[in-house]
Amino acid sequence: MMQKADILKADVSDIPEIALIEEKYIPNGWSEKAFSDWTNNQNTVIFKAVLDGEIIGFANGSWVLDEAELLNIAVVDQARRKGVAAMLLDALENYFMEKNAEKIFLEVREKNLSAINFYEKHGFVKNGLRKNYYSNPIDNGVLMTKIIKTGE
Ligand SMILES: CC(C)(COP(=O)(O)OP(=O)(O)OC[C@H]1O[C@@H](n2cnc3c(N)ncnc32)[C@H](O)[C@@H]1OP(=O)(O)O)[C@@H](O)C(=O)NCCC(=O)NCCS
Repeated sequence: MMQKADILKADVSDIPEIALIEEKYIPNGWSEKAFSDWTNNQNTVIFKAVLDGEIIGFANGSWVLDEAELLNIAVVDQARRKGVAAMLLDALENYFMEKNAEKIFLEVREKNLSAINFYEKHGFVKNGLRKNYYSNPIDNGVLMTKIIKTGE
């Protein structure tokens, strides 16, 4: 069995490595510059999964008041189906909860069944469709939400 990866908060120095994973595994995803620009905003966070000194996955998101957004999550091919994405999502959710977010939104390609399965397994519910939202290749965007804390 694979040794357990460490889940840590990433910083700007990790962005080149993270952007490579993004480029390889997310069609038409963010560039290194897009990541760097985005981290200059307030209320953003990236978690990385590290195994033997290498980043094998990451998840990033942002929050405003009680609403959080999961923006990207990816794990390298060789480390999949071992719960790495689950650990990354867990870290992000706990972090959002500490920031008093009550729900998490995300958007995913309709054809990305492994990701949709993953999100559903972790309590996200489909609640909208954006026709032809994605390009290269063209695809619909499925909107999903998870309540992480109910208001008083
Ligand atoms: C989606 C992704 C992050 C899951 O990472 P992971 O570390 O393999 O996920 P975990 O091991 O924590 O969870 C596995 C669960 O995800 C779902 N899943 C993952 N890959 C799947 C596949 N090929 N087919 C069906 N379900 C799949 C299942 O629910 C699975 O549970 P199971 O193993 O009990 O069937 C990974 O496949 C990935 O990096 N994909 C490319 C990037 C991407 O599309 N990201 C999402 C959009 S930003």
